[in-house]
Amino acid sequence: MTSSSNLQYFRFPRTPRLSIWLLALVWIVTSGLSVTERNPPIHLRGEVGGNVTFHCPVANNEKITLFYFQNHTTFINGYHISKTITRSKWENTRLDRSETSVHMYGLNVSHSGEYQCIIQYSGKTNIEETSIYLSVTANYSKPTITKSHDRGSCYVTCTSHGGYPSTKVTWNVSVPGNVSSQVWKIVNSSNVPSPSTMLFNSSSTAYFNCSNGELTHLSCSVGDVTSDMFSVCSSSKPDGPGWVIVVAASSAVAVFILVALLLFLKHRKKQKGVAPGEPRAERNVNGEELIILYENKGGTEAS
Ligand SMILES: *[C@@H]1O[C@H](CO)[C@@H](O)[C@H](O)[C@H]1NC(C)=O
Ligand SMILES: *[C@@H]1O[C@H](CO)[C@@H](O)[C@H](O)[C@H]1NC(C)=O
Ligand SMILES: *[C@@H]1O[C@H](CO)[C@@H](O)[C@H](O)[C@H]1NC(C)=O
Ligand SMILES: *[C@@H]1O[C@H](CO)[C@@H](O)[C@H](O)[C@H]1NC(C)=O
Ligand SMILES: *[C@@H]1O[C@H](CO)[C@@H](O)[C@H](O)[C@H]1NC(C)=O
Repeated sequence: MTSSSNLQYFRFPRTPRLSIWLLALVWIVTSGLSVTERNPPIHLRGEVGGNVTFHCPVANNEKITLFYFQNHTTFINGYHISKTITRSKWENTRLDRSETSVHMYGLNVSHSGEYQCIIQYSGKTNIEETSIYLSVTANYSKPTITKSHDRGSCYVTCTSHGGYPSTKVTWNVSVPGNVSSQVWKIVNSSNVPSPSTMLFNSSSTAYFNCSNGELTHLSCSVGDVTSDMFSVCSSSKPDGPGWVIVVAASSAVAVFILVALLLFLKHRKKQKGVAPGEPRAERNVNGEELIILYENKGGTEAS
């Protein structure tokens, strides 16, 4: 029977007069004159922080007397052709009457679920109901890798945050199946929801056995986001920031020495140029000019 659920659509009387009107309507509804026609469900996707539009299917060229958008028995938005709806609506929704669509803004994961479009046309007693399923997702961040080497073994932790729904870390390691358990294994995995946003942080730690040499082209994924490639147990060059710092520091020292040397040479050249009686200049001028030059120089130096 559909009559019991029909009751729910009209369950928001506030004033006694409205109650009487609704009671009459409920009586009409429940007395078998009205049936609910259910349309096939619609699926809709949204992202946390984004917006979606619910397009409620509507018969063309027919006048609508009632359009309610609900979340089961909770009224969300809508209108009645001849009545003002006093029921509070969801603040993050806007109604587009001309298109019988509802815009929903600022989605979060708690907006996931089933919604109903309830429509009644003028001159009809039956009610049309369409379910729309909304799934709200959030993209996980690109996983980051942290490694810790420890004498012949390596622990790698892969972490990604802020996703929905809960998704486990998967490791992309290509090692023949029969030796796999000796080469590497997953130590632990966790999916922790944030209490305020309900978004998940996903993390996993894996152990790698370094007695089998270096492993390259490894990565981890959470859903369809994958980390950068990494390698473990490399023997040729040490991992981590250690050698990067050494290289950077020695480069800095080399540059410093070079600059200091250049400055020193430049300074010396300058001093030489200022010194009076440079031999090469003397040879290019005649004796008289040279004497005047010397007198002037001497004068300025004495004053
Ligand atoms: C959602 O709608 C609001 C208001 O119209 C707009 O400012 C915002 O940019 C929209 N967000 C997205 C992700 O489209
Ligand atoms: C590490 O690998 C070596 C060589 O394959 C194997 O003998 C050893 O048992 C492995 N160690 C662990 C803890 O799996
Ligand atoms: C997983 O194991 C690693 C290495 O033993 C440890 O550092 C880390 O805290 C563990 N994480 C969880 C969530 O248990
Ligand atoms: C999830 O990760 C973010 C970023 O690293 C952090 O700020 C937040 O506290 C984490 N939440 C939980 C529940 O661990
Ligand atoms: C989702 O948004 C609604 C308002 O649109 C708010 O009342 C609710 O607390 C939010 N829930 C979460 C889990 O953020």
